Amino acid sequence: MIDNFDTLRETVLGCTACRLCEGRTKVVFGAGNPNARVMVIGEGPGREEDLRGEPFVGRSGQLMDKMLAHVGLTREKNIFIANMVKCRPPENRDPRPDEVEVCIQYLRNQVALIRPKIIVCMGRVAAISLIDPNFKVTQQHGQFNEKNGVLMMGTYHPAALLRSPSNKPAALQDMLNLQQKIMEICPETYAE
Ligand code: URA
Ligand code: SF4
Repeated sequence: MIDNFDTLRETVLGCTACRLCEGRTKVVFGAGNPNARVMVIGEGPGREEDLRGEPFVGRSGQLMDKMLAHVGLTREKNIFIANMVKCRPPENRDPRPDEVEVCIQYLRNQVALIRPKIIVCMGRVAAISLIDPNFKVTQQHGQFNEKNGVLMMGTYHPAALLRSPSNKPAALQDMLNLQQKIMEICPETYAE
């Protein structure tokens, strides 16, 4: 455990602990407010993210920002965004279990320092690792379950919504559920 956020960032930026370091351009540590009560967890960097070193800045990231902004959440202000793996898997394949197993130490460290009240898993890869190994997005999206004192929710990955726009209303409803939960347990998220 590294007990300082900037030291953790420096450590992750220099990491070569798994094979994903070989193909990366930039490590994507995460972005947003480290004092946020809400964390959003994706899968791993894509092409744009790898080039810029920022999470969710490509097409799916733009959709995600729009949906989060719909319920008053922005990375500049009241959320912290991270990924299961911090380096881009080649050809955007899913990160492999052994890669997740190595990299998740950094996510755990981020969670330990931020101490969020709510964690939102964007898509199956994050949800199966963090919520339930058999998580089915179509059946369990939008539901909150407590784990180690943190409320966990899984929803559609924005890339999946770009492929299947018919799920967008359901995903927006998940965001409204999220807003409701925030107002119940960490309303300071919406303080000016
Ligand atoms: N998809 C993800 O899961 N994470 C990103 O950072 C970008 C796209
Ligand atoms: Fe290190 Fe994670 Fe990148 Fe693998 S994916 S090299 S564990 S930072």
